[in-house]
Amino acid sequence: MNAPIDANLAHQLRQLWYEHGMLLFRDQDIDAKGQIAFSRLFGTLERHPLEVTISHEHPELFTLENGGDRDPFNTAYYHGQPTVGRLDWHMDLHYTARPNHGAVLRAVTIADEDGETGFGDLARAYEGLDADQKSIVGKIEVAYRFNMQRLDMRFVDLEGYEPGPQSPKKPSDIGFPDFADAVYPAAVMHPVTGMRVLEIVEQFLDRVIDPERAGLSEAQADDLLRDLVDHIRKPEFHYFHTWQSGDVVLWDNWRFMHCTTGTRPGVKRLINRTTIGAGDVALGRVLKG
Ligand SMILES: [Fe+2]
Repeated sequence: MNAPIDANLAHQLRQLWYEHGMLLFRDQDIDAKGQIAFSRLFGTLERHPLEVTISHEHPELFTLENGGDRDPFNTAYYHGQPTVGRLDWHMDLHYTARPNHGAVLRAVTIADEDGETGFGDLARAYEGLDADQKSIVGKIEVAYRFNMQRLDMRFVDLEGYEPGPQSPKKPSDIGFPDFADAVYPAAVMHPVTGMRVLEIVEQFLDRVIDPERAGLSEAQADDLLRDLVDHIRKPEFHYFHTWQSGDVVLWDNWRFMHCTTGTRPGVKRLINRTTIGAGDVALGRVLKG
């Protein structure tokens, strides 16, 4: 990535990104400026709305740090094990109704154990539905409710989970703004590739909007969402990345969900992220009160 990338190569890289939805580059000896320049090949970069995590030196960078000052807020218990920075399957900025097009992650400090990032292909998940499921998914909209308390999320796996003593209760506890509910068609057409993407991720998923329009009761709508969440959790749609020094990962956030497995307390890990903006594309809409 330090060598010049001409227009032809940049075009080929964009085609590969659209074709596969996720690309891994090993052994990259680049700094923050190199990461920013590489990321710009794929679109205009945007700042993250959560100001507290932005790098002061390079505002295009968003730092994902384990083993730092924010650990107490990011620590929770899973089957009795304290875990820092574990996150359920999600798409970035999904709660704004305008998820960013993509992102680039660069490993700066590698955790000596754990700290994996999982990626899941929701275009393949859509293709993996049967005809009846595709039909019903084509008729419904789903709402996502931004919430800091994992215990209040309706479709995450809470077995063995306990919040940490400093887990945030409301967004302002850690300097985050609040967001109105975001609504998406359950199957979104990818704005560039035209692929159908199953717009179902477990984090913040809340309900089907007006389920009776699709002939469903509230209970049937909840059962359907549970089935769809079970579907996206199938390992056949997933790739879990174990980070090596020099790794750079680019993914299409309009197609792939991702998650993190977290680390044990005290383990150092630093990943720098750049965010490829949505431009004027909004995949969802904000639900007005
Ligand atoms: Fe994320």
